[in-house]
Amino acid sequence: MAERQLHLGAILEGVGADHNSWLDPDLRGDASIDIGWYIEQARLAEAAKFDLVFIVDSPYITPDTAPHFLNRLEPLTLLSAIAASTSRIGLVGTLTTSYWEPYNVARQFGSLDHISRGRAGWNVVTTGLEGAARNYGREEHFDHKVRYGRAREFVEVVQGLWDSYEDDAFPRDRSQGLFLDKAKQHRLDHKGAHFAVAGPLALSRSRQGQPVIFQAGDSSEGRNLGAAIAEGTFAAAQDFESGRTYYADLKARAAALGRNPDLIKVLPGLVPTIAETDEEAQAIAAEAQASLSTEKLLVQIGRAFNYHDFSTYDLDAPFPDLSGVTLNSYKGQAERIIRVAAEDKLTLRQAAYRFGQWKSDFVGSPETIAAEIERWFVGRAADGFNLRVTRPRDFALFRERVVPILQARGLFRTEYAGDTLRSHLGLPVPENRHSRARQSPQQIAAE
Ligand SMILES: Cc1cc2nc3c(=O)[nH]c(=O)nc-3n(C[C@H](O)[C@H](O)[C@H](O)COP(=O)(O)O)c2cc1C
Repeated sequence: MAERQLHLGAILEGVGADHNSWLDPDLRGDASIDIGWYIEQARLAEAAKFDLVFIVDSPYITPDTAPHFLNRLEPLTLLSAIAASTSRIGLVGTLTTSYWEPYNVARQFGSLDHISRGRAGWNVVTTGLEGAARNYGREEHFDHKVRYGRAREFVEVVQGLWDSYEDDAFPRDRSQGLFLDKAKQHRLDHKGAHFAVAGPLALSRSRQGQPVIFQAGDSSEGRNLGAAIAEGTFAAAQDFESGRTYYADLKARAAALGRNPDLIKVLPGLVPTIAETDEEAQAIAAEAQASLSTEKLLVQIGRAFNYHDFSTYDLDAPFPDLSGVTLNSYKGQAERIIRVAAEDKLTLRQAAYRFGQWKSDFVGSPETIAAEIERWFVGRAADGFNLRVTRPRDFALFRERVVPILQARGLFRTEYAGDTLRSHLGLPVPENRHSRARQSPQQIAAE
């Protein structure tokens, strides 16, 4: 088997998913809605040989939502524009299975996969925020369990639709007047608990067969979904130990389902603080910590509980009893906050500082950051990372100072070996299910 390789994604987050990044004078205030900003970052990530760019998304905001989320471009439209301006880097977009129809989604990501010549990926999410329901004609958000049941069936249908045509379905033989070999077009005729979809989809497969499936969701149900369908996960791990625990747990769940765990790439989010020296980086991190507003941190921690209002509680009393508050939102994260707050006897203020910001083990000089990345990779807490990209200086330091160290250590590529997302991630091209069904059992056994 080929040597295990580190993977890097760049989450393009414009003016930032936190409440402070937008204050950086080097960051354009309209970055989140400026296609020029996204294309520029994608090209820089491609020049640094990143595997992919990653676009997060969610269909609900409030006035307190963090700046990037308040005003941003829709992922598929955005990624199509990036596709036309890049040639190698993978393009992963987030789209919720709770408020779409599989036929639309199969068509959109299938199109992106053609537009990009085999570089598309879909990050499957079920959506945490309950308010999304009212943007789609529903009074109530789907229950957490229902969301995950729906997600499973949704992906099954989408993948079925992506196989509507076998790869040689279009002879386009002018002399015979034969455009389509009708035997190689397949209806899906799916009827399930949540969807009824006849098919076929009016779109053939791309050079990488099908878009790559990512997944983000941390509850037990979320992990089961990832173990069943994901080829990559966007993990929530914020420290080495929780990273290792998640990694082992997800891969064990996948193995129990008969899947090869090496074919699921675990990519936690990465928010490093990089400076010339460790001392300088520690000072920057300490200053950033001191400038955090408790009020904003309370909003962020509240987000896990469907924007529950924590401003009404005593900050220095023990973390409040939240029985009666909904866990139907970011359930995995909400349960973790409640559990850790009880175990570590945290006050609300301490919990807000622990969970209301993206904490990071990655503070130091480029050498320290690279060493920490290697520790997570070798220690099986990650197969790679999704770097959050906002401030220009931070991204430049990572590309220009950290990536070369990772390359010198043989952890990260110095050149792309292929030009599809699957080739970057070392994932096989999935065979068309109907072509496979035509093969004799002897042919399949010989593989
Ligand atoms: C690391 C991470 C990233 C996520 N990113 C998104 C996102 O971009 N958009 C979205 O609607 N939901 C996102 N989710 C939410 C999940 O899709 C899910 O709806 C929610 O967390 C509840 O599932 P859970 O309890 O399994 O975590 C993310 C979750 C995690 C853990």
